[in-house]
Amino acid sequence: MGTKGIEIVGMDVKVLIELLNKALADEWLAYYQYWVGAKIVKGPMRSNVEAELKEHAEEEFKHANMLADRIVQLGGTPILNPKVMGGISNCGYDEPTDPHVMKILEQNIKGEQCAIATYSNMLKKIKFADDPISANMIRKIMEDEVEHEEDLQAIKEDIEMMKKA
Ligand SMILES: [Fe+2]
Ligand SMILES: [Fe+2]
Repeated sequence: MGTKGIEIVGMDVKVLIELLNKALADEWLAYYQYWVGAKIVKGPMRSNVEAELKEHAEEEFKHANMLADRIVQLGGTPILNPKVMGGISNCGYDEPTDPHVMKILEQNIKGEQCAIATYSNMLKKIKFADDPISANMIRKIMEDEVEHEEDLQAIKEDIEMMKKA
């Protein structure tokens, strides 16, 4: 850990690390939900949906990586035991028990909406002036989540149009 890099943070670093670890749990669970969803999804436009889910999984994994690196930089420890993730995450885990494309899309849209709300709340707690590095990182992640929501809603809309045609 870099001493000066931590000293300049204008908020309680412990609180900051806790917030980042909660987000790390969300990202890891989102990663798994997309990853396993891509394996089991069935129904109209299966290959398009599968490709989209895989792409999102990779991006959630990148987010988890960014959060874990920042936690280490701040002198914290990223969650060591995946068992605690469900308990501390903001958005939880939505088990994809029904492999139908529409159901999987709906679950993941709900997940993205929770992620957008969570990061939006985090940005209110982690002010740019207090920690520009974390604030900037969260803004970047949030941009991806907004894109994810739009991607999934667009596919869902296409499938609904196919049904009406
Ligand atoms: Fe994410
Ligand atoms: Fe996402």
